[in-house]
Amino acid sequence: MKRLTVNGLSAEEKLRLICSDGFWHTPSLGGKLPRVSVSDGPVGLRKELRYEDGRVETVPSVAYPAVQSLANSWSREGARAMGEALADDCIENEVDILLAPGVNIKRCPLNGRNFEYFSEDPYLAGTLAYEYIDGLQQSGVGACLKHYYCNNLEYNRFEQSSEVDERTLREIYLKPFELAAKAKPVSVMCAYNRINGVYASENKKGFRILREEFGFDGAIYSDWEAVRDRTAACKAGLDIEFPFNQKNYEKLVADYHAGLLSDEELDACAARVLDLVYRVEEMKTKRQIKHTKEERRAIAKKLAEESIVLLKNEGALPLQKGESVSVCGEYACPKRYSLFSGGGSSMVRNDEHFFDLPALLRERTGAEVRYDPAFGTQGIVSNWQKPHKAFHDAAVSETAIVCVGTGSDIEYEGGDRANMRLPGPQEEMILEVARRNENTVVVIFAGSPIDMSAWKDEVSAIVWAGFCGESGGEALADILAGLVSPSGKLSETMPLSLELTPAYGSYCDALVARYEEGLDVGYRYYDTYNIPVAFPFGHGLSYADFSYSALKAQAGEKLSLSFSLENTSDVSAKEVYEVYVHTVENFVYRPEKELKAYGKVTLGAHEKKEIEVELDSSAFAYWSTATDGWKVDDGVYEIMIGASSRDIRLSFKVEIKAGKLTVL
Ligand code: BGC
Repeated sequence: MKRLTVNGLSAEEKLRLICSDGFWHTPSLGGKLPRVSVSDGPVGLRKELRYEDGRVETVPSVAYPAVQSLANSWSREGARAMGEALADDCIENEVDILLAPGVNIKRCPLNGRNFEYFSEDPYLAGTLAYEYIDGLQQSGVGACLKHYYCNNLEYNRFEQSSEVDERTLREIYLKPFELAAKAKPVSVMCAYNRINGVYASENKKGFRILREEFGFDGAIYSDWEAVRDRTAACKAGLDIEFPFNQKNYEKLVADYHAGLLSDEELDACAARVLDLVYRVEEMKTKRQIKHTKEERRAIAKKLAEESIVLLKNEGALPLQKGESVSVCGEYACPKRYSLFSGGGSSMVRNDEHFFDLPALLRERTGAEVRYDPAFGTQGIVSNWQKPHKAFHDAAVSETAIVCVGTGSDIEYEGGDRANMRLPGPQEEMILEVARRNENTVVVIFAGSPIDMSAWKDEVSAIVWAGFCGESGGEALADILAGLVSPSGKLSETMPLSLELTPAYGSYCDALVARYEEGLDVGYRYYDTYNIPVAFPFGHGLSYADFSYSALKAQAGEKLSLSFSLENTSDVSAKEVYEVYVHTVENFVYRPEKELKAYGKVTLGAHEKKEIEVELDSSAFAYWSTATDGWKVDDGVYEIMIGASSRDIRLSFKVEIKAGKLTVL
């Protein structure tokens, strides 16, 4: 096909080009252009087949762990592997662009879509998203970074305005987009909400920042039905409206003929759509399926394994060979995917790949594992009034495992959770079992923080299984049985209660969400104001112990530091180290600490490795509203290396004077 340019298109064709074709395609302009096909992610491929008679069918796909879980792995390799595996799913199903990943910051644990996002920390979110995008695109499938930006709640999402000051925007809400944009995603999707009163689809300033400052050179699309006024959106630089909307299109054509849209404005969008089409054509030449379906399931298992977080362990885990175990809760042996997935456009069709935790544990421990489903998402499935089989099982077993959680009935796109607690019967169940067995282990299948205060202190161990994907049960069984040491860490703080979260009180008043907490999101808030939390950001236990020592630092153009990380135990394991910067002295407000580097290291029993980290000036920079740019102030900074935001193992200070770094 001859390569088209905007000069070769009529105004009618250009107007048509920027309005998509149906739900999931760019227009072919009567066969002149190849069509680009897009489909949802990020948890797996959700491809819809829309038939002429109106039927819609979703193609079954591998269900990977939710992005919240992926982020709990703190694994760049994992994020890349997920992108690569997803590319295979896309290639197999002739999908050119996956509508993923989303990097919106978790401002409040109630947001119904938190399970689809990475973190409360922009650096963690942006750097993992970078790998995910690059994994997809190096395999020939385009990514779509979403939802640009400040889409931090679902409540009234089509109208609500996120009211945020400039510094907070730059440092917190735009930052993950800035970092992820370095992977050159072929597209970005705008959000539904307004930002400081202006719809994200008409936010000229935001689009300018994306293109001119973040170097984004792809096409921007609307979220599905996010466009109110196609002309205003085009003028702002929104390249394609999805899905096709006849009314909006007709109005756009009329506006153009009335002189309300210039040729220059129309051409800018149309040219970017053409670029997208041809870029996708070029990417097709790289495509080659690298993993069989079975191998992709194995990747899904590996991702789950790295993402499961051991929050608490007073000795109940790992299970010992031959130890008798009772398991209760439908989550242990789900008969529907919706029990271990969030709902909405990211929910893939998985109607057969479930797991059976009791059977998987039986295989691994060689001992008796008693099982009673007992309860599901909301209610009790067996007779609650009679002495429960689950209670008796717990009383006669050496260890009792209670599997609880949420699922797509509670966490879903389009609505927020009403509170952070587990459904009442689940809390009761935990307490009843814990009364009968002192080795009670709670396993949580969820995608957002849970208020555990009603039962946390009554149980021996707590495991965050997350929305672990279709192979997550096997990963969980390996961890519970001690075949694998847990290595996930929290990508968002587990607060004690909703009342103690930073956006409590200013979440949203129906029309406006005032981001009154400013920079103090997540651990930036808890650690600055010493707010007690259930489990801090970056926390996660292992069956191994690690020692951090031999810190060295050298200042040059960049700050180079190294330290020894040693596994002092007899089991091989992985440790995530976290590097934070604390500003000791400064004339602008800085949160107590900010994550600036991290890594995940595999260490055999008693193995020691030398870790090297480099920090450039961006590690010390803040957004200056006085100079309208990033600024590094002279002053004293402390570099903290830790196993969580509240478990700092090594630290040292540096001074910046006249822009020059010295290690103190
Ligand atoms: C969601 C997007 C999704 C789109 C297409 C919207 O409702 O917000 O994340 O990609 O639908 O399904």
